[in-house]
Order: sequence, then C-alpha cells, then structure tokens
Amino acid sequence: MRRTLIAANWKMNHTVAETNVFFGNFTVSLHTDIELLFCVPFTDLYQTKHILKDTGIKWGAQNVFPAPKGAYTGEISPYMLKEAGCTYVICGHSERRQILKESDEFVAKKVKAVYDNGMIPILCVGETEAERKAGKTKERLQEETQAIFLQFEEPPTKEIVIAYEPIWAIGTGEASSPEKAEEVALYIRELISTEWGKETSQKIRILYGGSIQSNNISSFITQKNIDGCLIGGAGLKPNELHKIYQKASIKEEE
Ligand code: PGA
Repeated sequence: MRRTLIAANWKMNHTVAETNVFFGNFTVSLHTDIELLFCVPFTDLYQTKHILKDTGIKWGAQNVFPAPKGAYTGEISPYMLKEAGCTYVICGHSERRQILKESDEFVAKKVKAVYDNGMIPILCVGETEAERKAGKTKERLQEETQAIFLQFEEPPTKEIVIAYEPIWAIGTGEASSPEKAEEVALYIRELISTEWGKETSQKIRILYGGSIQSNNISSFITQKNIDGCLIGGAGLKPNELHKIYQKASIKEEE
C-alpha cells in the first residue's frame, strides 16, 4: 500500500523567527501511515531540523542544483541538503519553471541528482490554463515525464513522488475537480507503467496540489490514484494544516 504524504510547501515564506512561531503554534498527532513533510526555504532548514528531529515529521527543500559541488554561485548541492537532514526535495515546481525558466531537461536532472543522493524527489508536473483550454494537458504531462524517463537507464528501485499541480489551480482558490485530478493521476500512472512497468507504477506516489484546504482535502485523497497533497498557502497556517492532516487521517482509518 502507498503511504499518504501531506507536504507543505512554504515557498519564499517564513524567516527563522517566523518558523519558530509557526512550530510553536502547530500541534499534530502523527498517524503512522501518513507522512507529514515541510519543504522550507534553505535558510530555515537547520532550525527546522532542530525543531523537528525526533518528532517523526519530515523536512525537505524546494529546489536543488544538479551537480555535486563547484562554481555555481548561489546554488545548493544535493549533499548540502542531505547534510541538513532533508528527506524530500521538490523539483520543477511550476513557479520555477515559469519564473526562472527551468526546462524539462534541467528539472529531470534535478530529480536524478536528488534520487542518486538518497533523498526522495517530488517532481511537479502540470499544465497551464492555456494548455488545458487547448486540450493539451496529456501532451504536457507526457513531455514532463518523458524528460525524467530519459535520465534513468533502469526503472527506479527507490522512491520518487510525482505531484500533479495544474498551474491554473495554484494559489487561485480554484482547485481542480477531484474526479479530473484522479483521471490525470491515473494517466500519469499509465505513462509510468508503459515506461517502467506496472510494478514500479503501482509503487510511485502521486500527489495533487493546487488550492488544497481543510474543506476539500478529503475529496482528493479518497481518490484511488491520489496518494496525498502538496499544499501551498494552507500550509502556512498552523490551525489549517492541523485540520488538513486530521482529515487525511480520517480517510486512512475508514
Ligand atoms: P496552493 O499552492 O496550495 O497555495 O495552491 C500549491 C503549490 O504551489 O504547491
């Protein structure tokens, strides 16, 4: 069975002082089958590690540079993230693809670098509003996943997570319909199955992201092919994230 993953992506929010305040106000009763993850800014990683070590809650990063070390001013290597205790690293969030012009190939190299360094990549994929309207959602997902397939000579034996985040649903308050998200998640699983085989495709966790809140999480995680959620805005609010995690736990107990 695939474990549920509830992942908060803080984006460029929370100083170290604000991180302390957030965790001072955040309470959760962890459920063994539901992972809770905070992907925080680089500058918050060590304080987050200090606060979360021994709690069972995981922490991770929002980006990485796909090289071990060297002359890459301003960048952070996979090993630096590993040293900071990261379990997961988000790769290719749409904000980086759009604002920083990261290509599918560059994102795929990040996924491989994270994987090779013993952490779990969370690959973000998803179509723009224009692509959706033009009926090009599947085509876009094919391109984004194909770039990843090219990086692996063999099907992966360790974990990779894929987050389906329709770009028009991010930060807009207008989530995809759960049924549509399930249809896309199933399609992504089929793409993986064709390339890496059925067994691998059944192991890979697929998340949904885009305007998730406590009042809609249940309808997403009860879908067969959706194994959790990547949460932006709601993950900055301790009470709201607490409620989201609670609702995810109820699903697991049913
Ligand atoms: P949102 O962001 O939950 O604020 O829509 C999701 C994301 O960007 O991962």
